[in-house]
Amino acid sequence: MKCRRCRATAQVKLPSHHTGFCPECFDVFFSRQVAKAIKDHSMIRPGERVLVALSGGKDSLGLARELARQGHDITGLHVYLGIAGSSDQVLGKVDAFCQRESIPLQVASAPEEGLAIPLIKECLTRPVCAACGAIKRHLFNKAAMDGGFEALATGHNLDDETARLFANTLRWDDAYLADQGPVMPARQGFARRIKPLYRLGEYETAAYAFLAGIDHGTAACPYSPGASFTHHKELLAGLEERSPGAKLQFYENFLKRGRPAFEKAREAPPDLSPCLTCGFPTQRETCTVCAMREAVREAAC
Ligand code: AMP
Ligand code: FES
Ligand code: ZN
Repeated sequence: MKCRRCRATAQVKLPSHHTGFCPECFDVFFSRQVAKAIKDHSMIRPGERVLVALSGGKDSLGLARELARQGHDITGLHVYLGIAGSSDQVLGKVDAFCQRESIPLQVASAPEEGLAIPLIKECLTRPVCAACGAIKRHLFNKAAMDGGFEALATGHNLDDETARLFANTLRWDDAYLADQGPVMPARQGFARRIKPLYRLGEYETAAYAFLAGIDHGTAACPYSPGASFTHHKELLAGLEERSPGAKLQFYENFLKRGRPAFEKAREAPPDLSPCLTCGFPTQRETCTVCAMREAVREAAC
């Protein structure tokens, strides 16, 4: 196969776009997909500062590199989870990446907040992944608000987004379907959340990271060895193989036609007031994360 742009030998084949690229032209293709996502959804306005959540994986590190190359004013944020045998190694990768790319890095430490993930796992009955997700989102938002960042970017890609959409659709979960999308606008106490990689699949983000020589983490979290929505991702991969482009169409058409209907039918969002302990907007007196912190303290694990 020849590269679609320059006719050299294609090294990255993209069946969903009925095409393939040489490494240089793939780089151009990738940049354009990110730029299009940002422009189509007004993700970042001129002069805005963006905090990029860096897990140490291929998606978020690739995203940070690409945003920096496109001239956006970015800072990395890593949430250190305090898991023995994995968190230090991940932090090392994120730190080395940021130094190499000259990207400023902030680290939010869950243990320093009284929220070390191993303690949460020991002391709480709820599944650790759900609790960990809530803690990360809380610390992402806190860092974005404290630092005066206009947007918080995550490395969610097309496979993550379509698998989540598929799961929400199977349950006809109208509240989630009214909300899902590549941009969650800012609202009282919350920074805008953006997903600039939503047009690119996992294979493409992996190829980008490989070609850019990014040394990313590959180990799964010891507490959740299976990636989320694995089964849904497999089903959608089968569909994509038979109908190339189906995933992006499913997602884009949902944004155009599906979501507006769910948004219209949505009940008014509940009023939020500041958490009595940390000031984070919440529906209760104490936010979920402060309640977890308190439960860990009480259990004195
Ligand atoms: P995941 O839910 O693990 O697939 O992660 C989705 C996105 O959340 C990643 O691409 C990152 O942008 C962000 N993320 C996940 N874990 C962390 C972490 N420990 N620190 C900073 N960002 C993270
Ligand atoms: Fe959160 Fe593993 S439980 S990353
Ligand atoms: Zn709180």
